[in-house]
Amino acid sequence: MNEPSSRLKGFYRLSPQERAEVLARWADLDASDRAALQGGLALADADLLVENVVGLYSLPFAIAPNFIIDGREMLIPMVIEEPSVVAALANAARLARAGGGFSTGSTAPVMIGQIQLLDVPDAVSATEAIEAQKEALLAELEPLHPTIRRLGGGPLDLQVRRLDETPAGPMLVVHLLMDTRDAMGANAVNTAAEALAPRLEALTQGRALLRILSNLSDRRRAWASCRIPVNAFSQGDLDGGRVARGIVEANAFAWADPYRAATHNKGIFNGIDAVALATGQDWRAIEAGAHAYAARDGRYRTLTQWQVEEDSLVGRLEIPLAVGTVGGLTRYHPTARLALKILGQPNARRLAEILVAVGLAQNLAALRALVTEGIQRGHMALHARRRQKYSEQAQESSR
Ligand code: MEV
Repeated sequence: MNEPSSRLKGFYRLSPQERAEVLARWADLDASDRAALQGGLALADADLLVENVVGLYSLPFAIAPNFIIDGREMLIPMVIEEPSVVAALANAARLARAGGGFSTGSTAPVMIGQIQLLDVPDAVSATEAIEAQKEALLAELEPLHPTIRRLGGGPLDLQVRRLDETPAGPMLVVHLLMDTRDAMGANAVNTAAEALAPRLEALTQGRALLRILSNLSDRRRAWASCRIPVNAFSQGDLDGGRVARGIVEANAFAWADPYRAATHNKGIFNGIDAVALATGQDWRAIEAGAHAYAARDGRYRTLTQWQVEEDSLVGRLEIPLAVGTVGGLTRYHPTARLALKILGQPNARRLAEILVAVGLAQNLAALRALVTEGIQRGHMALHARRRQKYSEQAQESSR
């Protein structure tokens, strides 16, 4: 079967209702999906999610067309309040089509749980004791998560790390590595870490304090790359080769300078967070992991790499990405479920791969704009529309 193209020319010129029609045909949406575009979370379900609920809060749900990811045509659902992010992403996805779109990959979904051990009398023999009992300890954890086990996941390894110099003195940290399959895994890992702690206390004669997952989930990474002919960046008098070189120079700035890297990486998360929000993910966890990863060599740097190879601009982004397609908000939020449907019902690895491709594209969009016309032109178009609407309303109400 031929997939429909995601290159939706003139989509932006339609009304929201007309765009919803196009989306419904494209993604085969039924009446309840269409209703999810209007409503979202029910108050009664919101009341089950967090404490002290008094109402609901809405944001725009938008579509970035033009994506090809691993050869598949894709429309990307985004929830975001910032003008020009969606248009910029669509634009970058269109540019990337000239090179076949984005290629992605990911590791197995392995999360890390940390158990902090204090007052350990002998770090060396404690480490040896944990190593010697590793298989037995892991086996004891297996019954905790029957569904994850049935799906091929579960506890994988224990690793002992020594933190000899901390403000509170030396400590041992045990990392529990666990494949959480399509779950984001925070609950599963925290349960296992808490279950493991008394056994580690007994083995090390230490005192367990924190038992919690690490958001630096660097065992669970996803990556995306693209290769775009530089002439795709030519426009009027603008030479594509110069634009591509400008993007490489802009990226070098963010590699060398944390002040620039923070802004550069923020732009990446304009895209990733918007899709994470649309699909019901814990975007704080994603941000925390990726920013820590950006500083992994001791200095906070750009997360993307850009270089010119022959006549192409080649980009790559790799980050830790802990996302889930079962449990959490995906269970309660009809619009999050709809977003996953638009993305073709991905599993957690595939969703991570889509997110990282979006991050790379969003970075490309920002850098392309910054090295050419600047960022304000795109921003101002929507600002102008908003100003016009509110001044019309003000005139209306003063009549
Ligand atoms: C604005 O939300 C994001 C940018 O500042 C990103 C960047 O500077 O690379 C445009």
